[in-house]
Amino acid sequence: DKGEHRHFMAKEIHEQPEVLGHAISAYVDPVGRKVVLPEGGIDFSKVTALTMSACGTAFYATLVAKYWFETYARLPVETDIASELRYRDVPYREGGAALFISQSGETADTLAALRDAKEAGQQVGAIVNVPESTIAREADALYPTHAGPEIGVASTKAFTCQLATLASLAIAAGVARGVLSREDEERLTGVLLEAPRHVAEMLHADKSLEAIAAEVATARDVLYLGRGGSYPLALEGALKLKEISYIHAEGYAAGELKHGPIALIDEAVPVVVLAPRDAVFDKTISNMHEVMARGGKCLLVSSAEGLAEAARGGKVWGEIAVPEVDPLIAPIVYSVPVQLLAYHAAVAKGTDVDQPRNLAKSVTVE
Ligand code: M6R
Repeated sequence: DKGEHRHFMAKEIHEQPEVLGHAISAYVDPVGRKVVLPEGGIDFSKVTALTMSACGTAFYATLVAKYWFETYARLPVETDIASELRYRDVPYREGGAALFISQSGETADTLAALRDAKEAGQQVGAIVNVPESTIAREADALYPTHAGPEIGVASTKAFTCQLATLASLAIAAGVARGVLSREDEERLTGVLLEAPRHVAEMLHADKSLEAIAAEVATARDVLYLGRGGSYPLALEGALKLKEISYIHAEGYAAGELKHGPIALIDEAVPVVVLAPRDAVFDKTISNMHEVMARGGKCLLVSSAEGLAEAARGGKVWGEIAVPEVDPLIAPIVYSVPVQLLAYHAAVAKGTDVDQPRNLAKSVTVE
């Protein structure tokens, strides 16, 4: 049942404040302001290294989580797409743990990579949306994402709930490893608990994105740029647009632009710049100005403060305002404009949003 929405994808995008609340309350005690993980799970105080793997959108969740585990838990992290990891001869570290992320819990490559890691003696955790799935059953530890059934082929709420679950795990790992103090844990869990409210706030801007998305829908190619935790979101934005609107899109780390892709820039290529006001904001904005100097049309996604600051360097083609949030939850909140842009572009093009061509919801063959 799509309720008041035209597509399951729209319904699932709008469900995010609620399901994120479920995901976060499964791991965060709002009164004690601490992360409480299920009994018998991975003991992060003893973990020597972390490997994370998945496919598609779930893989981008591992890339975001890499920043979190490095920053908050000081854990060495390796991530790879499951179809590569399973065929690599990985020298897994003794005492290591491996996390596999999957909405369906049935993705063939992810399952195969999980089995390899288990055989190599890694403690294996599954971050899945379907708790009865094969990946959930075969893991040593299960961390459900609580997003509820996702029908649209494009992953939306499953992704943000994966992020919320991974953020909880990274904070827990930081505490277990003695990297985060009690005050840090209180602050970070407090920030995480605010994510659903900021996502709801962002969703109020849904209608206002339609016009800009309709313009993006006329492009042949679109670039997405981001740095740090926004780099995986640039990849995710490009995947979403390709998947449901069939527009060619590429996600790039903003600093990588001058190593090749800047040659693509002309007035016909919209460049979506994801720039929360974090430690690399200035760097991203200066990359954006390089694009503008070459005639590129930039769509800047930032907070009102960020948009105002960037405007001092020249007027951008388009703007999307996002609530100003702590860098911890920026990837969760910035997922929403990325999803809405792809959704409205697809609607403008008249594609089959929930069931895009050539795609299946669950990829159970390699
Ligand atoms: O069920 P999974 O999370 O394992 O699926 C992984 C990918 O197939 C999936 O995320 C795919 O990339 C989505 N359709 C993207 O929107």
